[in-house]
Amino acid sequence: MAKQKPGPMQTIVSLCKRRGFVYPASEIYGGIGNTYDYGPLGVELLRRVKDAWWNRTVTAREDVVGLDSAIIQNPQTWVTSGHVGGFSDPMVDCKLCKSRFRADKLEDAKCPEKPSKRPGECAGELTEPREFNLMFKTNLGAVESSSSVAYLRPETAQGIFLNFKNVLESSRLKPPFGIAQIGKSFRNEITPGNFVFRTREFEQAEMEFFVPPAEEAQWYDFWRTERFNWYTELGIRSEKLRMREHEASELAHYSTATADIEYEYPFGWGELEGVACRTDFDLKRHSEASGTDLVYFDPQTKEHYTPYVIEPAGGINRMALTFLIDAYEEEQLEKDTRAVLRFHPEIAPITCAVFPLVKKEGMPEKAKEIEASLRRARMSTFYDEKAAIGKRYRRQDEVGTPYCVTVDGDTLADDVVTVRERDSMAQEKVKVSELQTYLFEKMGSWSRPS
Ligand code: GAP
Repeated sequence: MAKQKPGPMQTIVSLCKRRGFVYPASEIYGGIGNTYDYGPLGVELLRRVKDAWWNRTVTAREDVVGLDSAIIQNPQTWVTSGHVGGFSDPMVDCKLCKSRFRADKLEDAKCPEKPSKRPGECAGELTEPREFNLMFKTNLGAVESSSSVAYLRPETAQGIFLNFKNVLESSRLKPPFGIAQIGKSFRNEITPGNFVFRTREFEQAEMEFFVPPAEEAQWYDFWRTERFNWYTELGIRSEKLRMREHEASELAHYSTATADIEYEYPFGWGELEGVACRTDFDLKRHSEASGTDLVYFDPQTKEHYTPYVIEPAGGINRMALTFLIDAYEEEQLEKDTRAVLRFHPEIAPITCAVFPLVKKEGMPEKAKEIEASLRRARMSTFYDEKAAIGKRYRRQDEVGTPYCVTVDGDTLADDVVTVRERDSMAQEKVKVSELQTYLFEKMGSWSRPS
């Protein structure tokens, strides 16, 4: 029987493992429920995504500053925010196999019994739905008691609200301004899945943008467009993205509007990032519960008000997965097919690979010298002298390296290298003295081939 071609998700998962992007966590002990570790290339990819987000959202703007708040906050934080009382999913248990499923996602769930059916379609009876809180609990200090209970944060946003006054007083900002944070969040998801799309431990990139209430609509428009464009400018195909406004029935009770930026994954359309109008709900609640005044006083208009908040909130791991899926192509060439990740150069884990054409005649030494100079220019590089040159190019295509530099006889004679572009596979001779400028210019003018 002919071997079946793996599906698109399987292809990505296996490439990630094989080439060192993502490994199953605790693999030698049999893993731990849809939890993953990031390998050498994966960690570089996450770093690029975080840098690109931070540069665009914080560094490039004069009205947004950063924050790094604690993962474990005073547990009252989560009572006030509504997470202790309401951050839950309805779940049902199968009385036969003892598996647990999300009651609102039964149509997507598979019963572990073979032949696999949907929960409830086998002989097993399902319990009535019960609310299951998604926060991870822990205890502070040596004594485990109800008074020592604390939570791992389920979102980074609340740490920002808690520091609203601190940032206001220590910076010279006034609304409209934003506070951004990237950090780990934890949710005890009932059904994690689709590789790193939904996991129990993940990184979020969130920004709370505080505005005068009358400017809510204008800033909501601005941040939706800004966040959507960030993805397309980093190479994500716009036909695979859409903006979906929430129906009134979907909105959180404090939200006046929310939109999801969705991507068409191999498993269907899914939320990549949300942009929400959170009104003054969080600041007001924390103000009331803590007794700390979180009202802003505008010295110019002499007006006191609680700012409204526009919140773009995305997941770094989900963004990285999206960049991977979207970049992956199998390109039919004359004689064979090549697998290529068409990452934007700003996102690619390796920017430039450097090869000696052959492992002799001083070429490795020269190639290492060139590689070291690119490293000094803060370029992420990779040196490889094994296998035929064509094979080395293909290995770099598969991990998305946009440029390969080859040192050959001309380099030793005339100080000229060959630069090979990943997307077009075109090769060009470039003087070693002009190589850095050439590469930086190429990176700056990159666009995805259609
Ligand atoms: N502060 C708002 C908030 O946390 P959210 O929609 O629950 O909103 C924001 O989360 C983003 O975080 C999502 O759009 C998604 O990208 C990411 N995210 C949420 N849960 C996740 C999970 N279990 N695994 C991976 N990423 C997740």
